[in-house]
Amino acid sequence: MASEPFDLIIIGSGPGGYIAAIRAAQLGMKVACIEKDPTFGGTCLNVGCIPSKALLESSELYAEAKHNFKAHGIQIDGLKLDLAAMMARKDKVVKSLTTGVAGLFKKHAVTGVRGIGRIVDPTTVEVTKADGSLEQLHTARILIATGSEVVIPRGFTLSGDRIFTSTEALELNEVPKHLVIIGAGVIGLELGSVWNRLGAQVTVIELLPRILNGFDGELAETGRKLFSRQGLKFLLGAKVTRAELQGETVTVDFEDVEGKAQRLECDRLLVCVGRKPCTRGLGLEAVGVKLDRIGRIEVNAHYESSVPGIYAIGDVIPGAMLAHKAEEEGVACVEQWKGIAAHVNYQAIPNVVYTWPEVASVGATEEELKASGIEYRKGSFPFAANGRAKGMGHTDGFVKILADKKTDHILGAHIIGPRAGDLIAELAVAMEFGASAEDIARSSHAHPTLAEVVKEAALAVDGRPLNL
Ligand code: NAI
Repeated sequence: MASEPFDLIIIGSGPGGYIAAIRAAQLGMKVACIEKDPTFGGTCLNVGCIPSKALLESSELYAEAKHNFKAHGIQIDGLKLDLAAMMARKDKVVKSLTTGVAGLFKKHAVTGVRGIGRIVDPTTVEVTKADGSLEQLHTARILIATGSEVVIPRGFTLSGDRIFTSTEALELNEVPKHLVIIGAGVIGLELGSVWNRLGAQVTVIELLPRILNGFDGELAETGRKLFSRQGLKFLLGAKVTRAELQGETVTVDFEDVEGKAQRLECDRLLVCVGRKPCTRGLGLEAVGVKLDRIGRIEVNAHYESSVPGIYAIGDVIPGAMLAHKAEEEGVACVEQWKGIAAHVNYQAIPNVVYTWPEVASVGATEEELKASGIEYRKGSFPFAANGRAKGMGHTDGFVKILADKKTDHILGAHIIGPRAGDLIAELAVAMEFGASAEDIARSSHAHPTLAEVVKEAALAVDGRPLNL
């Protein structure tokens, strides 16, 4: 029996898909959201942002207790790590959020459908259920929000908890002796930080001569120094060619920066060299949805694919692979159907790495401004000159603001320091409103807060910081 048609079927319940579902329901649409995994929330909630942030928080507290409490006059005898309890807490955080999505669907009358979705035609999606049965759902529009999956380079065979991806790195039941990480990107640094803090020796092998490719170079270089001081060992300009597991030992072959063949042994290897869009099995070729050279769905400014009525957002389309970018796209995509002038300002999307100190950016980097010949003024201010940072005992890092030389409009902002991920929000909002550095400099910032470093950096754009 054919079911009553939906206004919108969304494939994928990650932050892009589930937020689009809620917004569409708020706008009066009849919505279904199809999810292949047992819980809603996608990579972000189940095996990405949320569990990694839970472990980052726990491991940072452990590292604080171990290294920094003494300076506050707090003595602890017999400090011990209970990894099982730490993992159980992380699982609890994940569960509360994934069940939270199910609750939100219920509240907004979104139909959650468990199974694998395949597009039959622009108005029909076939769902394969866990028991193998098939169901056809009919709809006016389809939104693909299937996200991304890990890239496994040639020469690597994953093997359980020895050679693994970020998913398994969030589940280890013992601290590795020596964890080798391939790729000094976001995942490598965040999960490298977790296991380094918990006691593992960590070596990060990176193809490029720098870490955090794409971030402002000054930020990345400061990060490299700070993370090295914490114990992370970086082998930069080194290409891993092969990894092999023998017994419990993983042998990693790589060419070092001089092109010499080198070999490392470790007990665990984390492969995190990027992610690719999840478009397989969706029936895209059959319905004629065009993909670009690297397998992303081509969309127009309204997120519509080459097939009218089929839309796509998030990691499956070009742009940064970030949960909040997918969310903004999902909201803009569904709002436009109701005549709302929604659009995403890609220049004002922040990007955060949750190491300690955190790394956060919005807008253009200095390298990008130089390459496009845009004249800018730069203001930097260190956390070391901020009262709150001193009180916290976390004075590493700085805020840097880049403003147009003529108009003073903020073009980019880059922070490495305590709670950089929260501080960047002010600058993202400022950019969204087309603010100048002077606007930030003249806004009152509570004292004593870390946010005063943002104000001082804005003052520094005009060469007049007050506390330096
Ligand atoms: P990434 O693209 O951030 O970094 C991968 C690194 O691996 C690059 O620096 C690359 O040069 C290097 N690499 C590639 N092949 C190599 C080889 N054979 N040997 C040595 N190095 C090699 O990718 P990552 O860390 O896997 O993250 C994937 C995506 O997930 C990113 O797009 C990121 O935005 C997203 N993500 C975002 C988070 C956040 O917002 N905090 C957290 C985690 C992931």
